[in-house]
Amino acid sequence: MSTRSSSGWLRASRRKYLDIEIFSERVFNSHETERKGGAMATWDPDTYLAYADERGRPFFDLTAQVAADDPRTVVDLGCGPGQLTAALGARWPSAHITGIDSSPQMVEAAQRHASDNVTFELGDATSWQPDELVDVIVSNATLQWIPGHRGLFGRFCDALRPGGWLAFQVPGNFQEPSHRLLAQLAADPRFAAATAGVERPAAFDAATYLADLSGLGCRVDAWETTYLHVLTGPDPVFRWISGTGARPVLEALSDEQRPIFESEYAALLRAAYPRQPFGVVLPFRRVFVVAHKADSREAGPREADPRAEVPPCKGSSA
Ligand SMILES: C[S@@+](CC[C@H](N)C(=O)[O-])C[C@H]1O[C@@H](n2cnc3c(N)ncnc32)[C@H](O)[C@@H]1O
Repeated sequence: MSTRSSSGWLRASRRKYLDIEIFSERVFNSHETERKGGAMATWDPDTYLAYADERGRPFFDLTAQVAADDPRTVVDLGCGPGQLTAALGARWPSAHITGIDSSPQMVEAAQRHASDNVTFELGDATSWQPDELVDVIVSNATLQWIPGHRGLFGRFCDALRPGGWLAFQVPGNFQEPSHRLLAQLAADPRFAAATAGVERPAAFDAATYLADLSGLGCRVDAWETTYLHVLTGPDPVFRWISGTGARPVLEALSDEQRPIFESEYAALLRAAYPRQPFGVVLPFRRVFVVAHKADSREAGPREADPRAEVPPCKGSSA
């Protein structure tokens, strides 16, 4: 087990994270003016970081359950703007941490968090293959953007050293008004042609992932949490979702359509998430999975039963 307690890591890393967030906000403010006149970026680190503290919390809740003592190699798949990857570097100073992301904008932004033990590179999680086995794979709020991501679990397990960890978190809020209203408005005849076939994030429930990874021979801890984010400022739910879930729809619209859509969508969200004296509450369900690959030294419950078949950890998951 880790010498640092989970709650200790959580407290220390969130403090560190807040420092990084303040730094990030300063750095990325210059990016905003650049974006206003031009085409909408595929991923805009500035918009994404608008609620960095709320978005970061599940990352720490997830990684607090990874009991890796002294990993040598850690990979953050879909690292985004990199401040959370940097927090992994602070937690495991003797490990090498690699943040990988398919968005050039995100990787460029992440370079600001590079250090002696943290590096970033452009890459696609769907084809990612490490040169040598790794100790920890983290993927926070990313797999929902990869259709068929359950089919990658076998390869992820194969990429882990015995005793290694795979930890990921995906949103579980696709039935919430924020997403339903987005889909309804996108299907309106004024916008339907432009938004047809846009990328839509999708994920599964905790039990599905638990079965997938248990079937690959891992010991799995899967759970869900609904956060009640209390947001402030103008149209905070619209602002939140513009940085993530609504991004592909907004990007697909023409420059004439986008302001109309944005104004109507923001009004729908104001009605669905009414402002209260203390702020606007955004309930956000998230699904967490931490899978521990068996170490050859460990005698798990299945090994205790000679009749039980332990499936090999290979690239054959759902
Ligand atoms: C919602 S952001 C999460 C960023 C970061 N993990 C965090 O928690 O702040 C999702 C990230 O996944 C990246 N992404 C999406 N599909 C990907 C893929 N196939 N391979 C690598 N990165 C991907 C996006 O570029 C984006 O940076």
